[in-house]
Amino acid sequence: MSIEKRQHVHGMWAAVAAKWEEHADYVETRAGALNAALLEGAALRRTDRVLELACGPGGFGLLAARAAGHVVLSDVVPEMVEIAAKRAADHGVLNVTTKVLDLEEIDEPDDSFDAVISREGLMFAVEPQRAFAEIRRVLRPGGRLAASVWAERDRNPWLDIVMTAVSDLLGRPMPPPGMPGPFALADADRLRALATGAGFVDVRLTRVAVPLRAASVDEWWARTRGVAGPVAGIIATLPDDRRTALEGDIRTAAEAYVTADGIEFPGEALVLTAYGSEHDDD
Ligand SMILES: C[S@@+](CC[C@H](N)C(=O)[O-])C[C@H]1O[C@@H](n2cnc3c(N)ncnc32)[C@H](O)[C@@H]1O
Repeated sequence: MSIEKRQHVHGMWAAVAAKWEEHADYVETRAGALNAALLEGAALRRTDRVLELACGPGGFGLLAARAAGHVVLSDVVPEMVEIAAKRAADHGVLNVTTKVLDLEEIDEPDDSFDAVISREGLMFAVEPQRAFAEIRRVLRPGGRLAASVWAERDRNPWLDIVMTAVSDLLGRPMPPPGMPGPFALADADRLRALATGAGFVDVRLTRVAVPLRAASVDEWWARTRGVAGPVAGIIATLPDDRRTALEGDIRTAAEAYVTADGIEFPGEALVLTAYGSEHDDD
């Protein structure tokens, strides 16, 4: 059953890879403060061999490569990995390689990385405890993890209003019970427990504001309906009349966030940093 769930999640992301490529630069602009917090937490050194998990188009890993020795950009979706490789080449970043890897079953040897980084990916694990165990396994003794996940749903209305509208339309919860989703690791206590349960030490959690701005509701919605992995496929396959009704509900909910300059939604991420084992503070 876990395999079927995992395949479903991976397929969902494969379907939106092209849209993630299209909006990759926007994603980096939005992630400015989050990138800074992750980089600070990762405390990368010039000699570090780093693994980025769930890299998507690779924006964060490419940034991290400026501070590290070598970064492996990885994602479970081959299309995402291809996009990351192309963007690395386009940006002239030479100290990265790419690899298709599942963060729940990391096909890398034990103790092979100085740091593991991941931005908005861990919550898509069907069995997150397995992901944390795998990350710790591939970290060398004293290696570091810096990862972010979305905070509570009510702190991220830019996605909550979409998932709520889809859920109301379908008459079932979104995501379906037992399936991972954007807010699956939003409970800070649970996130901390997953890390400590896997043996991580010096676990720290911070909250980072990640507002989402767009010039208009139209601009926001055009982007969101393409990249929102958990709902994009559902929306794309709705009959016209139901899609029109859904989009009307979403636009109405979005009106509450319209400003004089366009639209601005609040957003918040949890940044987790931890060490795989006791470490020197050098
Ligand atoms: C919200 S996107 C984030 C992409 C990128 N990290 C960023 O911040 O721009 C989530 C990513 O997680 C990837 N993903 C989902 N499940 C995964 C898994 N089990 N192993 C590795 N990557 C996974 C998806 O393919 C997608 O690229």
